[in-house]
Amino acid sequence: MQSSPIAWATDLHLDKATPEARQTWAAKCVDTGAAELIITGDISNADRLADDLDWIEQACAPMRVRFVLGNHDFVSPTGLWGRGPDYDGHGSIRSHVEGCVASARARMTYLHSEDRGVLLDSGGTLLLGVDGWFDGRAGDPDQMTKTAHERRELRADLDTRLLAWRLKELSPTPRRVIIATHVPPFATACLHMGDQTSGFKLGLYSNVGLGRMLTEYADEVRKLKVGITVLAGHTHNAAAIRPRRNLRVLVQGSEVGAPGVMLLPADPYLID
Ligand SMILES: [Fe+2]
Ligand SMILES: [Fe+2]
Repeated sequence: MQSSPIAWATDLHLDKATPEARQTWAAKCVDTGAAELIITGDISNADRLADDLDWIEQACAPMRVRFVLGNHDFVSPTGLWGRGPDYDGHGSIRSHVEGCVASARARMTYLHSEDRGVLLDSGGTLLLGVDGWFDGRAGDPDQMTKTAHERRELRADLDTRLLAWRLKELSPTPRRVIIATHVPPFATACLHMGDQTSGFKLGLYSNVGLGRMLTEYADEVRKLKVGITVLAGHTHNAAAIRPRRNLRVLVQGSEVGAPGVMLLPADPYLID
């Protein structure tokens, strides 16, 4: 199946990158020659997210930029949106980003707000996205606090249900679905220096409930030969797994202070 090249970046952490590193990153993105750039979260922090999105749109022109937010995008170092791990600015930040993108940024899409996703090319590639969150299921349950349980329901599982509904509503079913999210949906995709992450940290690095839902969806659409690619970041360590023949999960490695970009590799499952 013919499809256009797609650039993908994650965990830019622009608040921790020098102006030179930012410019280098933007030039690399444009140099890929791709018309589409997908960003899978941890773009910046809440206080400067709107400004950094503005900068990305201008610096990466003429690329179209499709993004989801990561956990760091909801953190407010100055307390402007609420401070610390129990901040209540989650919904406010999403609304703020939705407003900014709708009013000023013609080439940007906040995927979390797009129920129908974005059709990327004439080959029928549909891009969907939800921010997502870690759900603690793969970690040590004894170390899950009440707050962590609440977060699982209000953030991770709510986003999983939203994505499940969007997938169910797809009509007609596309041949290729790309799903952008921040936290890897399988524990086996959470690596550190090439080794499997374990213990409490694994609960913070993975969104197992999302993985279960995606596995069920992949099984449902397998007869239709739908190929699903999930793009994630968050762990800053590269991984590639294929839980089903028609479901692959790619996690891009990243280095704080030196953001990178890559072209999305072709999926052998979709090559006729
Ligand atoms: Fe990150
Ligand atoms: Fe993250």
